[in-house]
Amino acid sequence: MIDSSSQLMERATRKMRSSVGLLAAVSLCLYSASSAGRTFQIDYDSDCFRKDGDRFHYISGSIHYSRVPRYYWKDRLLKMYMAGLNAIQTYVPWNYHEATPGKYDFTGDRDFEAFLKLSSDIGLLVILRAGPYMCGEWDMGGLPAWLLQKDSIVLRSSDPDYLKSVDRWMSVFLPKIKPFLYQNNGPIIAVQVENEYGSYFACDYDYLRHLLKLFRYYLGDEVVLFTTDGAGERYLKCGSLQGLYATVDFGPGGNVTQSFKAQRYAEPRGPMVNSEFYTGWLDHWGQKHSVIKKEIVAKSLDEILALGANVNMYMFEGGTNFGYWNGANSPYRPQPTSYDYDAPLSEAGDPTDKYFSIREVIGKYKKLPVGPVLPATPKFAYGLIQVKKLQSVAELVDSLSFSGPVKSVYPLTFVEMKQYFGYMLYRNTLPINCTEATPLASPQNGVHDRAYVTVDGVFQGILERNKITSINITGRAGSQLDILVENMGRINYGKDIHDSKGLVTNLTLASNILTGWIIYSLNIDEAVTNGHLKKPQELQKLTAPAEVKVPSFYLGAFVIPNGIPDLPQDTYLKFPGWSKGQVWINGFNLGRYWPARGPQITLYVPAHILSTSAVNNITVLELEKAPCGGELNAPCAVEFVDAPLLNGTAAYTNPANRLFKKKHSWHE
Ligand SMILES: *[C@@H]1O[C@H](CO)[C@@H](O)[C@H](O)[C@H]1NC(C)=O
Ligand SMILES: *[C@@H]1O[C@H](CO)[C@@H](O)[C@H](O)[C@H]1NC(C)=O
Ligand SMILES: *[C@@H]1O[C@H](CO)[C@@H](O)[C@H](O)[C@H]1NC(C)=O
Ligand SMILES: *[C@@H]1O[C@H](CO)[C@@H](O)[C@H](O)[C@H]1NC(C)=O
Ligand SMILES: *[C@@H]1O[C@H](CO)[C@@H](O)[C@H](O)[C@H]1NC(C)=O
Ligand SMILES: *[C@@H]1O[C@H](CO)[C@@H](O)[C@H](O)[C@H]1NC(C)=O
Repeated sequence: MIDSSSQLMERATRKMRSSVGLLAAVSLCLYSASSAGRTFQIDYDSDCFRKDGDRFHYISGSIHYSRVPRYYWKDRLLKMYMAGLNAIQTYVPWNYHEATPGKYDFTGDRDFEAFLKLSSDIGLLVILRAGPYMCGEWDMGGLPAWLLQKDSIVLRSSDPDYLKSVDRWMSVFLPKIKPFLYQNNGPIIAVQVENEYGSYFACDYDYLRHLLKLFRYYLGDEVVLFTTDGAGERYLKCGSLQGLYATVDFGPGGNVTQSFKAQRYAEPRGPMVNSEFYTGWLDHWGQKHSVIKKEIVAKSLDEILALGANVNMYMFEGGTNFGYWNGANSPYRPQPTSYDYDAPLSEAGDPTDKYFSIREVIGKYKKLPVGPVLPATPKFAYGLIQVKKLQSVAELVDSLSFSGPVKSVYPLTFVEMKQYFGYMLYRNTLPINCTEATPLASPQNGVHDRAYVTVDGVFQGILERNKITSINITGRAGSQLDILVENMGRINYGKDIHDSKGLVTNLTLASNILTGWIIYSLNIDEAVTNGHLKKPQELQKLTAPAEVKVPSFYLGAFVIPNGIPDLPQDTYLKFPGWSKGQVWINGFNLGRYWPARGPQITLYVPAHILSTSAVNNITVLELEKAPCGGELNAPCAVEFVDAPLLNGTAAYTNPANRLFKKKHSWHE
């Protein structure tokens, strides 16, 4: 926390800046007039951006390359261009590129340089939200979980260990984007250095100053650097800094003039910018699917453009949290796999009615590009696919665990085990006879986030963060207690982003602390991709007729039908009667399904992961209960359908959480 005197100073400097900025703008304009090169600048005098010296407004849309398969980047970007946008905005999730300290991945879907080049080729400028923090309903707001190896680290502050990691990442990443800056003939017109920092508790100006210096060092003095905060004085106070252009974010339906007035608190002169104009809204498991009417979006957009302001629509194309990438809000509510966002382009990239309303509004202010708007991509219902039960996670633990079990008196967290995503197994032995129902509890609410409990392979119950902190179990002393813990996604917003996973506090049995754990980190993705799970034919005798209520794998195969043109096509996967789990097709991790809680019922399956030349395989990890087995030995099946269902009944709604959302409805 900084003291109030330095806050006052900060504000005084900011006021002084309006006159200093004016002088700077004049001299820059002179410079640009005499320079043949490309320029993109802020004109404080005329309250606008200037591109190559000319007055310029951007009409931009958000698309996160990390949420759309590379195969579809071009399709989505073309559709954005055809809507009349002249720019796009993307976050750069640090944890997507530096999954382990010092090891970088910029290949395939992570090749953001290819994404920048494609945007540029299509004729779209880029507003790059470079991080280090993004929020964005992404695991830990884009920060790598390995930062938590130092338990006392203060994230998003001038904590030296945090800064050391930021510096190392930026020394790799920022030089890569330099050639893509507008003045270097690239598409990037502006770079964001922090996101809604004014909503974070730390209020550490030294941290913002550090980022400013770092970005200037690698990117030079010309590029426009900016910040984004809620449209209110209280957010801008800690979120803005001299030298970083302060922009605001706000959704439709409010008083647009009033919201831009808030930006003037930090920027008395300069262009008006809404960096996140919400076209829709995010979802949480267990709450109603968010929908925002196109009329409300169109009306506010019209008002923004009429004021001559710059706008970025968040999201224009939401996409998907494939794998384990979803984040969560606090109090703990994880976001689902779909990031459709009720955006103008659907999760599958299809233009919606909202898309055409927005395009019509944009058409009032600028000439729309000529040519047809690309239509929705065709979808195909491949139908019911039978899957067969393989072993349970506990039975397979030796082949799933990459480093062998670790013995520990007390439980270790995911980070302590150097596993960052997915699932870990905690094994123990019942120290006492639990012939009567005996409480197994997490008195400090330390199950992060959901635990599936068995004794000698028999299901006992589920513990869940903030919801179920105690269950009763039965079993004899010496029985094997297995607790599979799921990391359901790290908190991405607010003071709780320091979000450890696993059993982060002790468990008790009959009020006594359990000790003597055997902990298995699990690399399920590798086992699935490399086909290490046993094939069903090798397992005939293992297939128990009994109802399966322990976390188990299921495997199925399907072929894309012959004789139908243009297959494979996109499809949606439905889980009739299934409860909760994770699913892979041909080794591609599609994400989590949880129809038992909703609202998301179907998972988006992009066509490029399907094969027409080979048999496709599908692996399901069901954590609770499959709709098969039992007395009748009913078959297990999943179903491919041709339409999404994202607004199924939400089985669990906590009214207190709805209240929270209202209070923070501006945040992203
Ligand atoms: C919107 O806010 C502006 C500036 O505060 C105010 O002048 C105007 O009356 C407001 N408009 C509406 C419709 O409330
Ligand atoms: C558990 O119960 C069995 C059978 O009643 C008994 O032999 C054993 O000593 C008990 N074990 C403990 C640890 O109480
Ligand atoms: C556990 O069992 C006790 C005693 O039978 C009972 O009072 C309690 O409600 C049970 N707790 C749960 C969470 O089921
Ligand atoms: C678990 O309990 C032990 C013994 O009371 C204690 O030393 C330890 O700090 C506890 N661990 C956690 C994570 O609370
Ligand atoms: C499923 O398909 C992937 C990709 O072709 C392959 O690597 C994997 O071994 C297959 N799994 C099984 C069980 O056939
Ligand atoms: C769910 O969405 C579909 C498609 O947009 C719509 O037709 C239906 O009315 C919605 N159902 C509910 C319960 O909101």
